Amino acid sequence: MAINEMEQDIDRVFFTEEQIQTKIAELAETLNEEYAGKFPVFLGILKGVYPFYADLMRRLTIHVQTDFIAASSYYGGCVSTGKLTIKKDTDVDLKGRHVVIVEDIVDSGNTLYLLKQHLADRGAASIKLITLLDKPARRERDIVPDHYCFRCENEFVVGYGLDYDEKYRNLPYIGILKKEVYGK
Ligand code: PRP
Repeated sequence: MAINEMEQDIDRVFFTEEQIQTKIAELAETLNEEYAGKFPVFLGILKGVYPFYADLMRRLTIHVQTDFIAASSYYGGCVSTGKLTIKKDTDVDLKGRHVVIVEDIVDSGNTLYLLKQHLADRGAASIKLITLLDKPARRERDIVPDHYCFRCENEFVVGYGLDYDEKYRNLPYIGILKKEVYGK
């Protein structure tokens, strides 16, 4: 059998596949009620959001419009720069629409703060934020997710979309990386 390259770098599982799917099902129930009849636009913020976004969408039973923005306030490093780079914007006309920004993680809050500014003058009827993971202790901006699946402290989490050095996004659960991996 082939070596599991990712698993050997993981110290421990933080949130299992089952825990993640249970939380997503609960969140989908809430959103199905909250947005019934409103045909919201779900804007996924790439890249890290893709597994969460796909799993959440498959649990929604309301009509939704899907689109993505590729944005980052990091340039390959681990420290947010405070400047937003948008590689791909949405081309959906947001005027009068209910917008739901979907993130994998809210950390310093810089990315969301800048993204909200970026979307502010497009005439959306409402803008809400949902995230898989919330790290409130690390916040530098006044950003509070409307819904989150899990809260965590300052753990170095990877998997289920979250990367370290562009690896581990395809891990099916959220794990803590071994210190020797990111200490190299
Ligand atoms: C991650 C995540 C958020 C942002 C959160 O994206 O997807 O967009 O960082 O951090 P913040 O609250 O400190 O701004 P990243 O820029 O790493 O890009 P990626 O999704 O392509 O990994």
